Amino acid sequence: MSDFESRPHSSAYFGEERDYWWNDDYLDLLARRLGLDRVGVLADVGCGIGHWGGLLARHLPANAEMIGIDRDPANVAGARQRFARLWPDLSTRFVEGDATALPLDDRSVDLATCQTLLIHLAQPMSAIAEMIRVTRPGGQVVAVEPNNLFNRMAVSSLTADMPLDRQIEEASIAMRLVEGRRRRGLGCEYLGDLLPGLFAAAGLADIRVWLSDRALALVPPYGPPEQQAQLAAIERWQREGSGPYDRTEFAADLAAGGADEFMIERGWQAMLDGNAQASASIAERRYHAAGGGLFYIVAGRVR
Ligand SMILES: C[S@@+](CC[C@H](N)C(=O)[O-])C[C@H]1O[C@@H](n2cnc3c(N)ncnc32)[C@H](O)[C@@H]1O
Repeated sequence: MSDFESRPHSSAYFGEERDYWWNDDYLDLLARRLGLDRVGVLADVGCGIGHWGGLLARHLPANAEMIGIDRDPANVAGARQRFARLWPDLSTRFVEGDATALPLDDRSVDLATCQTLLIHLAQPMSAIAEMIRVTRPGGQVVAVEPNNLFNRMAVSSLTADMPLDRQIEEASIAMRLVEGRRRRGLGCEYLGDLLPGLFAAAGLADIRVWLSDRALALVPPYGPPEQQAQLAAIERWQREGSGPYDRTEFAADLAAGGADEFMIERGWQAMLDGNAQASASIAERRYHAAGGGLFYIVAGRVR
């Protein structure tokens, strides 16, 4: 469930691995809990190329409309193409716009939702307020956001035997990095933990909180397609020097989180070493991880 992209998104960053963030039978359950079969108009805010909206689409009634909003025109175009290919019968509208000033009328949708949008925003409350404004009274706002600080600390076969001092050092780097990103206005990676409180403060009622039951395990020989997609994503990040492999971003985040040059260099080298060890261990079919994470679904009703 990692979602490290920090630069403006392009469709090139939306890899196949995103299709495996959810279990289908869990989505069936979620659709029932949210009453998606009674939703006439759904807005997917920060839709990217429509991975989240696409998963919800199959649970909407035949005459429903899906509106996708994203500030990146390339994503809007990508979502439009993707939906035309995968869900040609669904009524859709994809528009460029900012989550903090949505290009939608007051009370015009039944359900406003987002996935891994709010963790990237300096002012998530502004986006939540906008989702409330565009949703009719009695409708729902549903946000899906992780705690990636927690997720960064997950244990794998490689880290399990690390000396305690090294584990503490790595935890300290992760905390400074996450805090640095928050201070730089790049969003709060643990926002998922705070979301129910933010929903309440924004005036939403009947707040419900769940976790995705999906685990992104890697277990030799990594046969299933979701494991292959994860390995492909890691390989792509390494090849492009993007996501968690961007040295400039890493240094800026850590510096803003209070790390000195020595700590930044040590942290960077430790990450490169860890990645090289993980790649070698994967090649030898020895690496394994359960791949669990905190990925919240928070729903609230508009009064
Ligand atoms: C991590 S991606 C998630 C995309 C999609 N929700 C998904 O789950 O695949 C975050 C998306 O939010 C968009 N975004 C970021 N800030 C935004 C803003 N202020 N207003 C609208 N979209 C924004 C980005 O362009 C990107 O497409």
